[in-house]
Amino acid sequence: MPTTRRHFLTSAAAGLAAAPMLAQSGRKISPNDNVHIALIGAGGQGMGDCAASQRVGGVKLLAVADVYQGRLDRSRELWGKDVFISRDYREVLARPDIDAVIIGTPDCWHQRISIDAMRAGKDVYCEKPMVQHIGMGQAVVDAQRETGRIFQVGSQRVSSILYLKARELFRAGSIGELNMIEAWWDRNSAIGAWQYSIPPDATPANIDWDRFIAAAPPHPFDPIRLFRWRNYRDYGTGVAGDLFVHLFSGMHLITSAVGPHRVYASGGLRFWKDGRDVPDVFYGLFDYEARENAHPAFNLALRVNFVDGGDENSGFRFIGSEGILAIEDALTLTLTPRQKAPGYTIDTFPQEIREEFLAQYNKEYPPQPVTASNMRPDGLETFEAPEGYDDHFNHHQNFIASVRSRTPAVEDAVFGFRAAAPALLGNVSYFEKRICNWNPETMTA
Ligand SMILES: NC(=O)c1ccc[n+]([C@@H]2O[C@H](COP(=O)([O-])OP(=O)(O)OC[C@H]3O[C@@H](n4cnc5c(N)ncnc54)[C@H](O)[C@@H]3O)[C@@H](O)[C@H]2O)c1
Repeated sequence: MPTTRRHFLTSAAAGLAAAPMLAQSGRKISPNDNVHIALIGAGGQGMGDCAASQRVGGVKLLAVADVYQGRLDRSRELWGKDVFISRDYREVLARPDIDAVIIGTPDCWHQRISIDAMRAGKDVYCEKPMVQHIGMGQAVVDAQRETGRIFQVGSQRVSSILYLKARELFRAGSIGELNMIEAWWDRNSAIGAWQYSIPPDATPANIDWDRFIAAAPPHPFDPIRLFRWRNYRDYGTGVAGDLFVHLFSGMHLITSAVGPHRVYASGGLRFWKDGRDVPDVFYGLFDYEARENAHPAFNLALRVNFVDGGDENSGFRFIGSEGILAIEDALTLTLTPRQKAPGYTIDTFPQEIREEFLAQYNKEYPPQPVTASNMRPDGLETFEAPEGYDDHFNHHQNFIASVRSRTPAVEDAVFGFRAAAPALLGNVSYFEKRICNWNPETMTA
């Protein structure tokens, strides 16, 4: 009996938003027009977002804002000298020819620039986490509703063909009733632990320090705090906001969960004692209550560490009454049905009783020969995305499709806040040493 089935996924399954139509507000974009975009925060991710967005086709970059001159110069090297550049993002928002902005700034700026951009009539692709603190999310939700702009958070798993396949399997009942979920993300390299490079021209002349610091407590010029902002609570959200949030967005997509009711986090700063004030080992426990027509009550355990000693690795396991759905890397999904045979403990029974038990057991669960191909429990199924598959590109495709069609984005402000909130509450729990309660439906503490 064949026991392993392998399937290959294609991005046609990504469920992209509906075909382009005219925009309802802002500059009118006809189907043959380019969507005009601008980038605010042109660091590693912002530049990657901008490149992905332009690969979608029918997209033209007009402007870039950043507080560091080197990244503005680099933007012109990459995208041409006609690109408008400024250290002040408000100059970019003031341009009527820009339809949408990508926000790739540190987390402390996400809320402010998102709201300013939507109020200026721009659609927004804002990097994750949507906001830096739990109290900041509702204002973005309100701004999206009031302005009617397209707003999408940049947690690309929501557009991944692998996660969409996992959702389909989950909804089809492939693992039965959900019991628990666990995920981990372990790294041990300097870059993985956020020790990013400081450029040799990082001087006050090339950096608009006051503009960077305007969203955080005052601090004298210190380029380390700009280029390694993730290491400081003033600007970032720690490992929870950086990495847990991807796990929440992917998990909420698959299960249709909207958030936990109780959050407890623990951890510590163990290895990277380079002046940072956030932990490098972080554990979170999240209790989800039952949600009608979606899932029963279940437990979620997440772990991130930067002290692991091996290569970066991450995993996700959804464990149900009938099986396990595992996402072992960015490209592979496995579905393993729960073993049907219950096993036995008969060594202490008298021989005659043992034999009677075994005869009955073997009748009910005929022994299966173990071969190289069925060493896992029977029925294992594997789904693989094509080699080099890039969910980030699909996420930008979805955003641009929404901008054109005016249909809601796949990861709007409500979805984005519900993914960020438990991660941000994890920070509250860790730093305030307490369990946090949360109402994920109303998005209130
Ligand atoms: N979706 C993903 O997989 C993913 C991956 C990496 C980073 N991110 C997110 O992207 C964001 C940026 O991360 P990064 O690694 O690119 O950081 P980065 O430090 O490389 O880039 C941030 C840029 O923003 C600029 N900046 C700071 N304040 C600004 C302001 N007020 N106006 C304009 N520019 C400003 C900085 O000078 C810098 O160039 C973060 O929110 C991060 O969480 C997402």
